[in-house]
Parts: sequence; structure tokens; C-alpha cells
Amino acid sequence: MANYPDKVFLNGEIIPSTEAKVSVFDRGFLFGDGIYEVMLQINGSYFFGQEHLNRLSECLHKINIEYDVTVLPEILKKLVSVSNLEHKDCLIYIQVTRGIAPRKHAFPLDIEPTVMAYALPFLLPEINDKPISVITQKDFRWHRCDIKMTSLLGNVMANDWAIKNGHFETVFYRDDKITEASHSNIFFVKNDVVYTHPADENILNGITRAIVINLCKKNNIEVQEEAIMQSDLPMVNEAFLTGTSTQIAAINMIDDHVYIKNNKIGPITKKIQQLFLNLKNSQTKRLPQVS
Ligand SMILES: Cc1ncc(COP(=O)(O)O)c(C=O)c1O
Repeated sequence: MANYPDKVFLNGEIIPSTEAKVSVFDRGFLFGDGIYEVMLQINGSYFFGQEHLNRLSECLHKINIEYDVTVLPEILKKLVSVSNLEHKDCLIYIQVTRGIAPRKHAFPLDIEPTVMAYALPFLLPEINDKPISVITQKDFRWHRCDIKMTSLLGNVMANDWAIKNGHFETVFYRDDKITEASHSNIFFVKNDVVYTHPADENILNGITRAIVINLCKKNNIEVQEEAIMQSDLPMVNEAFLTGTSTQIAAINMIDDHVYIKNNKIGPITKKIQQLFLNLKNSQTKRLPQVS
């Protein structure tokens, strides 16, 4: 099946995806009441896998779903193996919903979560060297964007609007502050300083975002976790998006503001892309699988 995995892990078993069934009373189906995570296996090991599992655990805790993520590495190892993806680059999707219960907003505490995961081949370029354009939109999502929940309708609508209008992403602003994009975080470079929105409840604290901030700190690039205002956009010199599958994507245009001409990526974005590539190569060669 194109783009569907052949095998999925569902509630303790790895089964053909065509046989995987979930109750219509699952709260994930009824309310989008669940958390998900996406991570990559590159060169045979998980790229910041522990950080992804930690975020999954923290988000589950935030919405009061009890699930011990320490069982996942063993499960994922088997899943990757039966998916014939051992030592291959792939994307791993994990979702944990609250489970099955009669439809009521308030949730029971004594139900088993529904756990699903799959792995798909996923090849990324060494460096994402194709600049992309984005458009802005008022952040109409809720106020807990720090929770990586499966109810992604706001993000889905925003991204669909961007794609249908020929752009890669929609970038949100809230009270004039640029927050993040529909499935990525955003960084700006202004007067040689790198800026990104602080990791509060208005954004998802991306694993790639944290990696980029650390890379800047270790390499004497000044970085501030401070929001750029919409009114700052004409003064910005460079802008880029970060995300697990996006990696680091230079932005050539935000609405009418042009940052890149003739695909010439700005010097700080380019440097960070190179540092990210070096890290990717060293991490994935050095680190064992998460255990
Ligand atoms: C809303 C949002 N912000 C940021 C990100 C980037 O997070 P990460 O770097 O962990 O993939 C994502 C990823 O899915 C996202 O959905």
C-alpha cells in the first residue's frame, strides 16, 4: 500500500495494518483525545529518540493519560524489524489516545490507553537546501500549543491553506508576535542575532528547535528566545523553519517580505544547516538505539 505501512503496532501486537481496528468509542476518534510523536531513524539509530520519548511522556502527563513510555524502545525495535527497516532511514509515528469509554467530555481514569505505532521509509536530503515560502495567519488555535495532541484541526486548516495557495507553511501570529508554523517552529536572524519564540504554551517546543538553540550556543551564535513581532518582519535579515521532517528550511518569502533571492541562503542559516548536518552525522554514527 503506497504511503501506508504494511504493519502496525496496536495495543500490544504487531499486525497487518489492514487488520488494525479501533473502536468508534475510542476517545481519540470521538474527541482527538490523545498525544502523538514523530521521530526519525537515521543511519540506523534514532535521532534524539530519548528527547522525543520524553516529550511524549510529558505531554501524556499534561493531559492525565497514564502510560509508561519506557516500554516503547523494545516495541519500536520489533516494529522496525518486522517493517524491514532495520538500519534504514525511516519515520516512526507513535500515538497514544485515552482509550475507549462512553461518550462524555469528562474522562474516566480507569481505562486502558490505545497505543498505535508504525514505521515508514523516509529519506531526507543531507541539507534542506531548497528555500520555501510561507504566509502568515492569526493564530486561531487554542492556548495549549505546547501539547502535541492528535486533534490537529487548526494546524491542518492552516497548512492546507498554505499548500493550496502554493506555499510550504502558514506561520501564526498571536497579539502581533510570531509564534510558530502549523508543523514547524520558526527562527529569525536580525542583526546577527538568532530569535525564536520562547517555549511557552503558545508553541510546541520542537526537538529540532532545542537542537538549533544548543548549536547556536555552542558555536558562538547569539540566540534569544524572544518573539519577533509582525512589525519586525521588514527588518529581519534571514528566517528559517525547523522540524523533524523539515529539518532546517530557509524561508525566501513571508507574505510580501523577500529574504532570499536566486536561492542564495543567508550566511547564518547556512552555517546552522551545516552544523545540524555535522551533528546528524556524528549523533547517528555514535549513539546506540534508545534503550
Ligand atoms: C505545531 C508544531 N510546531 C513545531 C513542530 C516541530 O517539532 P519537532 O522539531 O519536534 O518535529 C511540530 C512538529 O510536528 C509541530 O507540529
